[in-house]
Amino acid sequence: MSYIPNETRYECLPYRRCGNSGLMLPALSLGLWHNFGNITPFETQQQILRTAFDNGITHFDLANNYGPPYGEAERNFGIHMERDWRPFRDELVISTKAGYDMWPGPYGNWGSRKYLISSLDQSLRRMHLDYVDIFYHHRPDPDTPLEETMGALAHIVRSGRALYVGISNYSAEQTAAAASMLRQMGVPLLIHQPRYNMLDRWIENGLTDVLRKEKVGCIVFSPLAGGRLTGKYRSGIPADSRIAKDPRYLRQDMLDARLSFATDCLQKIADSREETLSQLALQWVLRDPVITSALIGASRPQQIIENIAALQKPALTADEISQIETILQNASQEVSI
Ligand SMILES: NC(=O)c1ccc[n+]([C@@H]2O[C@H](COP(=O)([O-])OP(=O)(O)OC[C@H]3O[C@@H](n4cnc5c(N)ncnc54)[C@H](OP(=O)(O)O)[C@@H]3O)[C@@H](O)[C@H]2O)c1
Repeated sequence: MSYIPNETRYECLPYRRCGNSGLMLPALSLGLWHNFGNITPFETQQQILRTAFDNGITHFDLANNYGPPYGEAERNFGIHMERDWRPFRDELVISTKAGYDMWPGPYGNWGSRKYLISSLDQSLRRMHLDYVDIFYHHRPDPDTPLEETMGALAHIVRSGRALYVGISNYSAEQTAAAASMLRQMGVPLLIHQPRYNMLDRWIENGLTDVLRKEKVGCIVFSPLAGGRLTGKYRSGIPADSRIAKDPRYLRQDMLDARLSFATDCLQKIADSREETLSQLALQWVLRDPVITSALIGASRPQQIIENIAALQKPALTADEISQIETILQNASQEVSI
């Protein structure tokens, strides 16, 4: 049956301006890293995407190597595109990336002009798209001159393959250099995509200052630490969880004493606000306006509904933010990991 989206979808969550650009992004965006390869049934994928859009999530984030296997998430997205999304292309912001190993040999990895342009052409073919809204360099390349990588991004925009460009996993210093170079090339840096959650706060040590100064947007990935900040691992490993299903990136040994201490204490704050730990974790990453969007993953539609509801609840108070700060400091300093 053809898909008819929820008519009230634009009343479900706020949209935030991405840096000083004209582009607004939903406060929650959906990533297709896990759950869109060959492990997840196609019907489940379809329900996740439809639930997201029905609830106002207009931004889907991909990369050349999302799967498994590599390329499969984009390939599946191309089928979803034909079945559901073609009529809504102009209501969607679709991103992809290149920067990690994708194909054998010296041209399928890192940050050369050769790799970025050919990878994006492959991505467009897999996704059945003429252009992506945002194309990212996925990680800094220590060997390719930054001028070459940024020059490739600028070329990609001028050639019409992408409307905007971003970088991911770049340090504060690398970001400042990239932003300045792109500005000189007449193609502003739209956005940075770093990891950020209660367990990994590296962006607070310089990167957010650079983004504020340069007026670049910020979409933070893994705001739930891959599921560790949902409370689902507090009493074991559920059979349908990421650690049980696909432990390549999230492993049992990442459930440590620091996490148990933090989630036990944080759960009490969530309870006092009559919300879930996942909702608290999402409100926390979005507390600073420099963060444009929190980029979540979901293995089932219900998770999206729960996560979106976080944005309909009152913002964290200064007192709650300070209590969370104390918990996170105690977790990192007083608990041996
Ligand atoms: N640029 C980069 O280098 C980079 C790196 C990593 C990710 N990303 C992007 O960020 C996106 C999100 O990453 P992520 O998946 O690690 O994000 P995440 O939101 O921290 O974790 C998502 C996982 O948590 C679980 N979950 C989500 N909501 C839940 C809820 N309400 N209750 C219980 N469990 C819940 C689900 O896992 P289970 O149900 O399977 O346990 C879900 O797949 C990726 O898809 C990708 O687009 C980018």
